[in-house]
Amino acid sequence: VLVDDLPTPALVVDVGALTANLATMAAACPGNRLRPHVKAHKCTSLARLQAEHGHTGFTCATPREALGMAAAGLGEDLLVANEVLDLRRLRDLSALADSHAIEVTVAVDSDATVRAAATAGIRQVLIDVNVGLPRCGCRPTDAGALADLARSLGLTVRGVMGYEGHVMTLEPLQLTDRMAQAEVVALAMDRLRAAHDQVGGDVISAGGTGTYDLHEHTGVTEVQAGSYVLMDTHYARLGLPFVQALHVIGTVISVAAHWAVADVGLKALGMDHGPPLVPGHRVLVVSDEHLTFSPDDDSTPRHRVGDRVEIVPAHVDPTVAMHETLWLVDGEQVVEGWPVDLRGW
Ligand SMILES: Cc1ncc(COP(=O)(O)O)c(C=O)c1O
Repeated sequence: VLVDDLPTPALVVDVGALTANLATMAAACPGNRLRPHVKAHKCTSLARLQAEHGHTGFTCATPREALGMAAAGLGEDLLVANEVLDLRRLRDLSALADSHAIEVTVAVDSDATVRAAATAGIRQVLIDVNVGLPRCGCRPTDAGALADLARSLGLTVRGVMGYEGHVMTLEPLQLTDRMAQAEVVALAMDRLRAAHDQVGGDVISAGGTGTYDLHEHTGVTEVQAGSYVLMDTHYARLGLPFVQALHVIGTVISVAAHWAVADVGLKALGMDHGPPLVPGHRVLVVSDEHLTFSPDDDSTPRHRVGDRVEIVPAHVDPTVAMHETLWLVDGEQVVEGWPVDLRGW
């Protein structure tokens, strides 16, 4: 099958770029120094490649991701790096841990999440600490008491996690001063280490694609990067050594004097980091099923109805989550179709 034969919008991954990204990260964060986040690709076939590169512990954002990873035989050490209160889903996770002899650890940041984990039979938790991102995580000063509560309920507390999502990319510093980013990451990790001093345990888990190489001296024991393997325009601006592996292929379905329209709209593209990139063109409008774009200048050849266009998403995670299949491609050839099988909650 050729790429041109795929029905569009088609999510494609370039095998050469994917292989390069896997190797680059495995060299920088070998073995369990990296706990790949599967939320970026939601695909067990891709996770298996990460495991083959030595990363056998994984980060998940939803119970569904952890259940799917375990079912695929990739459950050696799964971290649900997110707060879960739903007892049914937590019980599914703990039943899985019992029946498949897999390891499941769940993030907790409140009395309620600790008690839910204990009630559902979860055995291991990490104390999730707020390191500056206005999202989940307890105050560093509350971490010790939460760990005490968890232990009193029979849970094993493996350590702490703290996601510094607010400094994954820094604007406008990101383009000029990565040292400044390193300093802000270090400050965020001071909070995490302070919490760890009270909590104990072997694990200090943090980081992502934007900071994977800024943790040499932060005390962090594992990095939770996900996007690195596929990449997007948002992370491309940081000048990291990862290459763009993910594209959405569209078909031009209409043309006008000054623009062309492809069949790749909001329902095929995560737009929370802005519009996608159509090389050589400006994106004018993105609506439900349409992307309207016009050439940068007169030297750019005009598109015709039926042409194929390669679109670079601005944000990998939500883009992938909108597609059922991730097509592995090598030049014009389609090598394989991988189900995006970890979707859902
Ligand atoms: C808890 C957690 N860890 C790590 C990451 C890093 O992912 P990425 O490498 O895609 O930036 C994320 C991304 O949102 C996250 O939510």
